[in-house]
Amino acid sequence: MSDLQNQILDILKDGNFHSGGSLGEQLGVSRTAIWKQLQKLEDMGLPVESVKGTGYRLANGLELLAKTSIVKHLCNAKAQIPRRIEILKSVDSTNKYLHEQTDADYSKAVVFAERQTSGRGRRGKAWVSPFAANIYMSILWDFEQGAQALEGLSLGVGVAVRRALVELGIGNVGLKWPNDIYIGDKKLGGILLEMIGDPAGQCSVIVGVGINVAMPSKNTVDIDQPWTDLNSESAMPVSRNKLAANLTDHIFQLLDSFEVIGFGHYRDEWQDADAFKGRQGTIQTPRDAISGTIVGVDNRGAVQLRLPNGEVQSFIGGELSLRLAK
Ligand code: BTN
Repeated sequence: MSDLQNQILDILKDGNFHSGGSLGEQLGVSRTAIWKQLQKLEDMGLPVESVKGTGYRLANGLELLAKTSIVKHLCNAKAQIPRRIEILKSVDSTNKYLHEQTDADYSKAVVFAERQTSGRGRRGKAWVSPFAANIYMSILWDFEQGAQALEGLSLGVGVAVRRALVELGIGNVGLKWPNDIYIGDKKLGGILLEMIGDPAGQCSVIVGVGINVAMPSKNTVDIDQPWTDLNSESAMPVSRNKLAANLTDHIFQLLDSFEVIGFGHYRDEWQDADAFKGRQGTIQTPRDAISGTIVGVDNRGAVQLRLPNGEVQSFIGGELSLRLAK
C-alpha cells in the first residue's frame, strides 16, 4: 500500500465525509490523484462511499490492526506471549508467509494481515480476504513428539477460537467438524493447519485462522456457502484488535499444552458446541458419500456417524468434508 493510500485512510478512518478537494489540499495532491487512489482502495475491498457534491467516506469508520493495541489487549496471565507479532498490510497468505520464514525467530510468532491476495481455505479452496474487514492470522509452533501427539489439534484450535469469541460476548458460537466456526447454520470462520517437518518427530505446525468480522457485500459473491460475520451477529461492533488479542491468547494457551494433554481434554467442550449434533449428515470422501446421524467426535478428533444399520463409524482425514443432508 502506498504512502498516499495510508494517508487517505488515516483521514477517512473517522467515518465522516471528506471532499476530494479537502483531501487533496491536506495531502498536497490533485483531486484526480485522490480519486485514483480511492478507486484502488475500493478494489482492495474497502467500502468507500461516494456522494456527489459531498465527498467520500468509510461509513463504518476504519480500525486498522495495530501492534500496540493488540499487545495492550493480550492477557499476559493467560498464556505465553508471542515471541513476535507482525502485521502485514497485504500478503498472498499468512500461512504461506510463515511457511517461507526460515529464521528460528518465527517459532511462536503470530502474523496478521489486513488483506490476503491468495487466502487459502481447506481442500484447495480460496479464502475471501478483503482489506481491513476481517481477521486473517497464522501462528507457527514447534512440536517435539510428531504428528501422533497432535491428533485432534485442529479441533482443539476450534475450541480455543470459540472461547475467544464467547469471551467477547458473541453468543451461539458453534463448531462444525472438523474445524469450522459457525453461528446458527452459517459459517463465521475457518481454520487451516499445515505441518512442516518430520511427522514422526520434530515438526512445526502453522495454525491459520480466518474470522469474518465485517465482510463487504461486494465480496460475498465469491463465497460458495452460507456465511455470516460478527457485525451481523452482534449488537455492538467488534474491535478487530481486541479480537486479534483474544484469539492469540486462547490459541497460544492451547498450543502450549496440547502435546501433553491432547484433544481428549477438549472433547466434551467440542461436543457441547457441535452445531450439527443429532442432525443428518453426509461424509464426502474422494470416492464415496456416507450418510448417517452426526453423533460427535472421538478422542482422536474423528467425526462419528450412526449409520442406518445402527453401527457408529468414525471418519478422519484432511480430504474429508461433512455436509448436512438435504
Ligand atoms: C477453511 O477453509 O475453512 C479454512 C480457512 C482458513 C483461512 C485462514 S485466513 C489466515 C490463514 N491464511 C490462509 O491463507 N488461510 C488461513
